[in-house]
Amino acid sequence: MIAGRMDALALTAIAAGVAAATPWAAGTLPAWPAGILGSLGMAQLTWSQAMAKLRQYDEDSREGFILPSDDPVEHNGPGLHIGLTTDKNTRINMPDILGQRHTAIVGQSGVGKTTLGEYILWQQTARGRGWLFIDAKIDRDTRDHLAYMAKVTGREDELYIIDVSDPDNANTYNPVLHGDPDEVASRLMNLIPSAENNPGADHYRQSANHALTVIIAALQASGQLYHFGDLSILLQSDRALENLERMTPQGPERRALSIFLDQFRTRTKEGTRIDLNRMKQTLGGMAGRIALFAQGKFGKVFNVYAPEIVLTEIIRKGHMLYVSLPTMGKDTAALNLGKMIVSDIRSAVAYIQDLPKGERPEHFIALLDEMGAYVMEGVGRLFEQARSANIALIPAFQSFSQLNRVSPDFADIVIQNTWNKIFFKFGAKDSPEEAAEILGKTKRFQRTVSVSANQGESAQYLRTTPQSSMSDGGGMGESWREVEEFRVTPDQLRAMDMGQAVMMMGARMYHLRTPMINYPKHIPSFKVIKRKMKIPADKQALNFEERLNEFLTATA
Ligand SMILES: Nc1ncnc2c1ncn2[C@@H]1O[C@H](COP(=O)(O)OP(=O)(O)OP(=O)(O)O)[C@@H](O)[C@H]1O
Ligand SMILES: [Mg+2]
Repeated sequence: MIAGRMDALALTAIAAGVAAATPWAAGTLPAWPAGILGSLGMAQLTWSQAMAKLRQYDEDSREGFILPSDDPVEHNGPGLHIGLTTDKNTRINMPDILGQRHTAIVGQSGVGKTTLGEYILWQQTARGRGWLFIDAKIDRDTRDHLAYMAKVTGREDELYIIDVSDPDNANTYNPVLHGDPDEVASRLMNLIPSAENNPGADHYRQSANHALTVIIAALQASGQLYHFGDLSILLQSDRALENLERMTPQGPERRALSIFLDQFRTRTKEGTRIDLNRMKQTLGGMAGRIALFAQGKFGKVFNVYAPEIVLTEIIRKGHMLYVSLPTMGKDTAALNLGKMIVSDIRSAVAYIQDLPKGERPEHFIALLDEMGAYVMEGVGRLFEQARSANIALIPAFQSFSQLNRVSPDFADIVIQNTWNKIFFKFGAKDSPEEAAEILGKTKRFQRTVSVSANQGESAQYLRTTPQSSMSDGGGMGESWREVEEFRVTPDQLRAMDMGQAVMMMGARMYHLRTPMINYPKHIPSFKVIKRKMKIPADKQALNFEERLNEFLTATA
C-alpha cells in the first residue's frame, strides 16, 4: 500500500493538515492513515471533548478540578500539539520557535511524561524531522513504539538505536572518535567522579585530562582512527605510546606528546625508557574505566572504527536516534555512558551552531528522559548553544530535588533555560511548592461578609403611664480585598490525574489534558537495520588491540 517514504510523508502531511484544522480531528487519528495505523489514536480525547462541553471551571474540587487557561499563542508557523485545555477544549500548540527555547517536563513516576514525549516524537517523525531520545529505562515497549512510528511513516532507514543491553539488535557508536582533542578528553573525564573539594583527586583529574588531550591530538594528527580498546592500551603501555609517537607527523601534536612522555622517561644503562609504574600511577584509574567500555556488550557497540551512528550527522540530516540506558541496576557504566552521550551532543551542537544558517537542521528535538540520572555539570551551555543550532531540548525529570543532586543550583539552571514548562502530578514529597512558585501568582478578590445584630428593650416604670420601647438593629457588611495567591496551588499539583498537566509557555498558563497514543495490540518488535560503513580513504584504523601481544611482550 505504501510505496516508499515519499508516499508515507504525503499521507502524513494530509493527516497533519486535517489535525491542525480542528481539534475534533485529533480524535479521528485512529483512522489515520486509513488502514495503515490501525488503532493508533486518541479515543480518550474525544471523551474529554464531550465532557468539557458540560463543564467549564471548577477550581475548588480537590480532584478533577478545571483551571482557567490562557488563550493560545497566536502564530502561523509550524508547531507541535501538546494537549487540549480542560476548560474550553482549546487546542494548544507549541510553536517551533518557542520549542527551540526548550521545554522542561516534570512529574512523579507513572503520570505521563514519557507518554507525552512519545506523542511529541510521533509528530516529529510524521513531519519528517529528526529527534534523539535518551531513555533511562530498559523499556522495549518505548523502543518498539518509536520503531513502529518510523515504519508507518516510511522512515525505517533513518532510525538508529544505541542499546548496550542488546548490542546485536542495535547500531554501533564510537563516542570518542569525533570532536576536538579537548572535547573528547573532557567527554572521557565524565568517567571519573567529580573531584570538588579534593585537591589530590583534582590533581589526578588534571593529569588524566592532559594525557588524554595529548594522546588524542596525536592520534588525530596521524590520521588514525581509534576506539576505547586502543585508548585503554595506550594508557597502560609505554611501547604503545612510543609507537604512537613515531607515527605522529612532526608538528605541535608530536612535540606535545614527546614532552608528555618525557616526564616519565628515566635514564638506564641501555638508554632511556618510560617508567611504566609512574605512568600507571597517573593514568591507571582512567585506563581501567576506559577498558570497561571496550569489553563485552559495551565493546560490541563501541569498539568500532567506522560507527553507524555519528551524532552530528544524525542531527544535521534530521534522522532519528533512540538511546536506551540501562540505569535501573544503578549501573554506573550506563550512567557514564549517558554523560558521554550528552557531552557528545554538546560537541555536535557547538559544531552545528557554527554552520551557515542554511545547513543547520530545521527543528531537531532532543528528549532527555530522566535527565537527572545522567546529566553532568556544565550542561547549562548546552541549552544556550542548542537554541541557535535549532535544537529543541526537552529534559524530563521527576522532581527538582533530583536535579539539585547534580549541583546545588542545577534546577535553577534548567528552569532559567527552559521557556516552556510542563508539570504533571507531583509526588507527596516532591515539593510542588517550587513548581507553584514558577507557575506564578494571580490576583483575586476575596469577599468578606460580616453580619451584626442588636436588640434593645427599655421601659420607664416610674411614670404613671409607663412607656416602653423596643428596638431591633441589624447590619450586614460586605468587603472585597485584593489578595495574591498561587495560580495553581501545591495541593492541586499533587492532586492532578494521569495525563493531566499544567503548562507554562512563556507567561501563559494552560491546564491541559495530554494525548496518549493507542498503539495496535501487536506491534512488531524492533529489528535493527545494520548499515555497512567504510573507513574513510584518508584514515587508518589503529588496531592496537590486535597488536596487543607485541606491546605486552615488549613491556614484560
Ligand atoms: N495522557 C494520558 N491519558 C491517560 N493515561 C495516561 C496518559 N499519559 C499516561 N497515562 C498513563 O500513565 C502510565 C504511565 O505513563 P508514563 O510511562 O508516560 O509515565 P512517566 O511519567 O514517564 O513515568 P516514569 O517516570 O515512571 O517513567 C501510562 O501507561 C498510562 O496508563
Ligand atoms: Mg518515563
